[in-house]
Order: sequence, then structure tokens, then C-alpha cells
Amino acid sequence: MKNFEVKTKVCFGESALDRLKSLTYRRALVVADPFVVSSGMIREVTGRLEQAGVSYEVFSDVVPDPPVEKVIGGVKAALSYRAECMIAIGGGSAIDLAKAVRKFATEMDATYTPWLIAIPTTSGTGSEVTSFAVISDPAHEAKYPLAEESLIPDEAILDEELVKSVPATVTADTGMDVMTHAIEAYVSTNNNEFSAALAEKAVEICGQFLLRSYNDNHDTHARRKMHIASCLAGLAFNSASLGLNHGMAHQLGAQFHIPHGKANAILLPFIIEYNSEIDKHSRSRSVYAPCVRKYCNMARTLGVFNLNEITTVRALVSYIQFMNKEMNIPLSISDIGGISEGEYMEAIESMAEAALADACTATNPRVPTKREVMELYKKIW
Ligand SMILES: NC(=O)c1ccc[n+]([C@@H]2O[C@H](COP(=O)([O-])OP(=O)(O)OC[C@H]3O[C@@H](n4cnc5c(N)ncnc54)[C@H](O)[C@@H]3O)[C@@H](O)[C@H]2O)c1
Ligand SMILES: [Zn+2]
Repeated sequence: MKNFEVKTKVCFGESALDRLKSLTYRRALVVADPFVVSSGMIREVTGRLEQAGVSYEVFSDVVPDPPVEKVIGGVKAALSYRAECMIAIGGGSAIDLAKAVRKFATEMDATYTPWLIAIPTTSGTGSEVTSFAVISDPAHEAKYPLAEESLIPDEAILDEELVKSVPATVTADTGMDVMTHAIEAYVSTNNNEFSAALAEKAVEICGQFLLRSYNDNHDTHARRKMHIASCLAGLAFNSASLGLNHGMAHQLGAQFHIPHGKANAILLPFIIEYNSEIDKHSRSRSVYAPCVRKYCNMARTLGVFNLNEITTVRALVSYIQFMNKEMNIPLSISDIGGISEGEYMEAIESMAEAALADACTATNPRVPTKREVMELYKKIW
């Protein structure tokens, strides 16, 4: 038996943030990305809390790829302030941190079960609706995706005004994260009709609006669409899970601090080739891997459907490479700069082992061997 459930209530569209004016809690802990505080964007939340008569404290000790120690700091803040409601505002890192803080605070004190509202300020992770939180362990150069239902936020607020300040490079990385979530969920061994519908819409929006968002911060229509696509892709992979692309990207983030979306974007063309068993030397054949039909559907959704399976998968790969080039995303790890080739090659074996053990890899449509994953890490250098 399968089931499909959306646990998070999603407020979106014009004035979505006004939902905060109707909160009836007495105290809220606002977990905020430092940019949100330094830019003054935090007032969008705290001003509305004041109007609602809600007292609040702000916790902003958030860094990209939040490490365990920041989670511990957050748990202490949550348990000492005992807010009935936690409000996470920021990118995936701030939201993941808040999700982990709530989980561990409740585990330490079962009587403490705060409501959690997630307000994303990047259009990428979909963390506002997922049961995942990615926490890093710098001492072991590892990133762990925590995965359990209790992590899912109770409410999400999608307000495109908050993403206007996102710099072009972050728009590119996070936008390609959305694309990767949708494509991986679509070909996942756990996919189903509900996740497929969400993934198709997310990919369609990325095709129409990601470059527009990248080229013009103030294209509010494109930003609103990408903010919704991010959430749709989050719902898709929350149901269908992800694949090897994310399993490998997590290791690149943990070992070389490559931003999550950038690592996914670099990997995506190579993973499509690997999963489909189609590369530039392929000739047409009578039987294809089952994921090929799905990649062809994604290509059709993006408007690059071609003559046959081989040319269509090639067109999809070229499309992803085109998007990466248009948004100045490096096409290989060496293109990023600042990473030593020797260190990278030395890390490949341990990264391959960790990628195989990563929870995301389990639902990849092709079961990879360690040798194949090492080969892929070499290819993307
Ligand atoms: N929980 C999930 O389901 C899930 C899914 C995918 C990725 N992740 C995790 O999420 C993290 C990545 O999240 P992200 O891509 O949103 O990046 P992020 O949260 O790390 O933010 C990236 C940078 O953008 C800045 N920023 C955020 N909002 C901004 C705004 N409106 N204007 C200007 N700057 C802004 C931040 O300060 C930061 O410097 C990684 O740790 C990744 O592993 C989680
Ligand atoms: Zn991702």
C-alpha cells in the first residue's frame, strides 16, 4: 500500500506573510538566516508578530549547511524560551536548522511540542514541506540527511517579495536544485502518480521561469513562479525521494563546501547519462532502461522532445548544460577553482562510499556500484 499526504498548510500569493498577523500564540522563537537580520528583512516577520501581540526572540546563529553544534545552540534557545511557535525564515539552511532544533528539543522534553512555520527566502530546497533536514558534521566532513515525518513544518509561507534580494549566483544554484529535485523524484524507484504530477509542473515552471528569474531580480512574476516550483518539487521528492545525484552532491558539499545546488547542477547531466545508459556514442536499440521513457517525458515538458529515445535524452542533457552555461554555473568541479586536483582525487573513494550509504541513493533508478560512483566523481572533475 502507498499513501500520499500533504501535512503542511501552504499560504502563498499576494500578502501571504499577513498570515502571521492572525497568530494567537503568546511567544514565538524566530530562527533567522543572518542575512535576513542584517538586511532588515526580519521586520517583515517581527512587525507582523508585534501587530498580532506575539512576543518573540530571534535566534540567528545560522550558517550554510548547519552543523550539529548550531543545532545544539538552537535547542538550548528553544528550551529556555519555550515559545509555543517557531518561525524559520531563510534559505534551506535556516529552515533545516529549525526543523532539527524542534525535533531534538521535543526529544529532550516530550512536553515541548512547538508549532513550526517555515518561510523560505530562497527558491530551491523545498525544505518548507519536506521531512528532511540536512545537518553537517564538519569533524567527519560528512552531511547527514535526517529523514522523519516529525521534521515536516506545520505551515509554510511563500512570499516572493522575500526572494527579490537573492543574488544571481544563488538564484542559479537554488533554481537548478529545484530542477534536480523534480527530475530525480520523477525517475525515482519510489515515484507515483501524485509525485509525478508535482514534478512535471515544477520542471515546466523551471523551463519557463528560471532564466527569467536569473536575468532579472525584479521580475516578480518569474520569482513567484520559481518560489512555487521549489515547493512543488519539495512535495514531489518528499513523496518519491531522490537519487544518486543528491547522494553524490551531499559529499561534495561536506568535503569541498560546494553549494548544494551548484553540486547538483554539475552532476545532473552526468547522472542522466549514467541512469539512462545513453551517451554521445549511443546508437538506437530496441530496449531501453525504464527511466528513459521518464527522461523523455521531462524533455517533452521542457519542449526539447526529439526524434527518438537517444536523441531526446541527448537533448535533455544538452538542455541542462545550456541552462548551466547561461547561468554561469561551472560545468565541472575543476571549473569552480580553488579545489586541489590531488585532494579531490584522494577523496573520491571515501566520497563514493558515503554516497552509496546516503539515504537518497537508495531510490536511484539504476543501482550503482562503488566503482561506477568513483568513475562519475572522476568524470565531473
Ligand atoms: N530539507 C530539505 O529537504 C533539503 C533539500 C535540499 C537541500 N537542503 C539543504 O539546504 C541547504 C541549502 O539551502 P539553500 O540552497 O536555500 O541555501 P542557504 O540557506 O545555505 O543560503 C545560501 C546563501 O543565500 C543567502 N540568502 C538566503 N536568502 C537570501 C535572500 N533572500 N537574499 C539574499 N541572500 C539570501 C544566505 O544567507 C546564504 O549565504 C543545504 O544545507 C542543503 O543540503 C535541504
Ligand atoms: Zn537538493
